[in-house]
Amino acid sequence: MELEGVVAVVTGAASGIGRALARALALDAGAVVVAADIDADGAEATVAGIAAEAPEGATPGLAAGIDVSDEAAVVALIERVEQSLGPIELWCGNAGISRMGGVERPNEEWNQVWDVNLMAHVIACRHLVPRWVERGSGHLLVTASAAGLLTGLGTASYAVTKHAAVALAEWIAITHGDDGVRVSCLCPQGVRTPMTESDALLGVAQVEALGMIEPEEVAAETLEALREDRFLILPHPEVATYEQRRAGDRQRWLRGMQRMQRDLLDS
Ligand SMILES: NC(=O)c1ccc[n+]([C@@H]2O[C@H](COP(=O)([O-])OP(=O)(O)OC[C@H]3O[C@@H](n4cnc5c(N)ncnc54)[C@H](O)[C@@H]3O)[C@@H](O)[C@H]2O)c1
Repeated sequence: MELEGVVAVVTGAASGIGRALARALALDAGAVVVAADIDADGAEATVAGIAAEAPEGATPGLAAGIDVSDEAAVVALIERVEQSLGPIELWCGNAGISRMGGVERPNEEWNQVWDVNLMAHVIACRHLVPRWVERGSGHLLVTASAAGLLTGLGTASYAVTKHAAVALAEWIAITHGDDGVRVSCLCPQGVRTPMTESDALLGVAQVEALGMIEPEEVAAETLEALREDRFLILPHPEVATYEQRRAGDRQRWLRGMQRMQRDLLDS
């Protein structure tokens, strides 16, 4: 897709990958960016930061304090943006949360992770895809994770919901590709953000062991992929090999992951 001048909404734009993506879309690609986040002040700060660096005459973006799992708030945001800035051509569903632990964690926590990491994408698609089909174009970016292609050690709800997000992105791409809807699915491994700083030990040990990159690197790779209408975005290219190994010999892959988990717990 051509990014210059498009109206792009980035969720989770107050921090980390979302903030870097919002900045890159606005400052490097010339998109008009709406920064949405449950952290309203953080979203405002992202927009103010962009405005301070934008060239004179650039269309200012918007900041919105919303919970992406609140359907009424998402609908209100879509309507506000389309009325004030024009049709949304790119929706970057990037907000996400991680919680450590397995099936012993309470249902409330599983539901929270499910709502943010999967249902937020379902809700956004429910209200955007019909508009895009009618217009014959639109682009959805889903920030999933390498955990959605492989697994997430020590964090069952994250691994499961990110797999679901990848599955939804594939389904939308297949079902609405002929309608002009494009989909990209961002699957990074370790990225240096508050999420990886605040995580419990095993998750951080895992991503540290696999190599951390900066959010700006993820944003640059994502812009390139969006321009090419590429589905799978792998800022850590080795994830493609891991995914092939998983598909090629599941038994061997499971043994390798068990070994990695033991090594991380021992270290
Ligand atoms: N950091 C990594 O190593 C890594 C790796 C793979 C995928 N990801 C994914 O990248 C995305 C961004 O993560 P990050 O690392 O930048 O984390 P981050 O914690 O720095 O940023 C996440 C942002 O999402 C916002 N958010 C959380 N819940 C929300 C909600 N209900 N509604 C609206 N906003 C909400 C937070 O306020 C925060 O600003 C997430 O989907 C995450 O799962 C991160």
